[in-house]
Amino acid sequence: MIDKAKLQIGENSYEFPLIVGTENEIAIDIKTLRGVTDGVITIDAGYKNTGACQSAITFLDGEKGILRYRGYSIEELAEKADFLEVAYLLIFGELPSKEELQKFHEDIKENSIVDEDVRKILDAFPKSAHPMGVLSSLTSALTAFNPSNDKINNIDYQRTKKSLYDNIVKVLGKIPVLVSWAYRKKLGLPLEYGDNSLGYVENILKMMFKKPNEDYVPNQVIITALNKLLILHADHEQNCSTSTVRIVGSSHAGLFASISSGISALWGPLHGGANQAVLEMLEAIREDGGDTKKYMAKAKDKNDPFRLMGFGHRVYKNFDPRAKIIKVAAYEVLNDLGIDDPILEIAKSLEKEALNDPYFVDRKLYPNVDFYSGIIYRAMGIPVEMFTVMFALGRLPGWIGHWCEMRLRKEPIGRPRQIYTGETQREFKNISQR
Ligand code: CMC
Repeated sequence: MIDKAKLQIGENSYEFPLIVGTENEIAIDIKTLRGVTDGVITIDAGYKNTGACQSAITFLDGEKGILRYRGYSIEELAEKADFLEVAYLLIFGELPSKEELQKFHEDIKENSIVDEDVRKILDAFPKSAHPMGVLSSLTSALTAFNPSNDKINNIDYQRTKKSLYDNIVKVLGKIPVLVSWAYRKKLGLPLEYGDNSLGYVENILKMMFKKPNEDYVPNQVIITALNKLLILHADHEQNCSTSTVRIVGSSHAGLFASISSGISALWGPLHGGANQAVLEMLEAIREDGGDTKKYMAKAKDKNDPFRLMGFGHRVYKNFDPRAKIIKVAAYEVLNDLGIDDPILEIAKSLEKEALNDPYFVDRKLYPNVDFYSGIIYRAMGIPVEMFTVMFALGRLPGWIGHWCEMRLRKEPIGRPRQIYTGETQREFKNISQR
């Protein structure tokens, strides 16, 4: 078996060991590179070929379209699991027993009260504020109200230990409350707290949708759809936001602060913000007469900044397995709720055209997780600006799992190098001489 890689720089040759993962993925371990070569580094903008860590949480094969959490296929989890079971799996490594799941849920419920003073911060935001900005700020603010967060120096996954476990259940308990507050603030509704008699996902829906002076009536179609969407978004290995959470946490910043930065990273339209961008794009096409061919041409025109949102992925060069599941779910939800959304037809015809267009075929651009998710969120009655917030809610267990793994493995502070391309040394001139 090959176990070394050779590097030739001029006349000198160097050997580096290979690291092989459990799925036979191979990496060249270059941690000694600078030392042995007297200062040579690698450069890889966007980290397209750079492994930042070894991780036992999620396996993804973008060529074959495979996604597994802790060894379990995404298809099976989305079909059979409960979101909280998946959260437990991602964070602690194994599926919980009935008792373990019950205790986990109880602990989350016990830790779901958000300090009243956080409401005052929420009140200070204008109603027009984007809920992702509100959520990121309020998550960061939680650090001030839960100061033990920043004192984590003894990482332990054991559920009997204090500190880290407490912070994990606080994140999973309090952030859904913040999500519902961000939503209700947008609509000008009075804020809601959770209902301890409900399941985790149903409780989120109640906190979001309960109308003043009316009983909340659960809708099983919507509960099942949200459960599935949250599972599909729960982790995706070293994506932009998860890498952000790991790198912020690598300076030993606390869990809330790290997750707040993950929320900001997720916000961008090239990452989680794509679900909002997809729906806005589909709406724009509809308002423009539904001419999908016109927008396909724009997406292919290199002088036009327009991109087909919800298409393409850094790692999937095949169908995103999450997109396949969400497409089916979108049909089911619309059907079950008796909704006829013209936007679904536009999405379908864009997909069909793209899958047969050499531009997209040659570049292996397929629909990603965000292409159909917005259609389901819309059918659930969630406003478009909240779509990425829902993604963030689903991604919490992944961020927590990676943050814990990074600290448990005692990873060093994240600090890339660079190749400097600016001016060489020059003399300062007084302002009168410039
Ligand atoms: N529409 C048109 N052309 C595209 C698209 C698109 N959506 N995506 C990629 N391309 C082209 C791109 O112009 C480039 O062409 P060329 O080789 O001629 O220069 C080629 O395909 C490779 O693209 P890239 O931008 O170099 O690839 P990347 O890995 O850096 O970017 C991406 C991946 C997801 C940012 C990109 O595909 C994109 O912008 N997609 C639209 C936004 C989107 O849907 N994002 C959600 C991703 S899934 C949710 C998540 O996990 O974040």
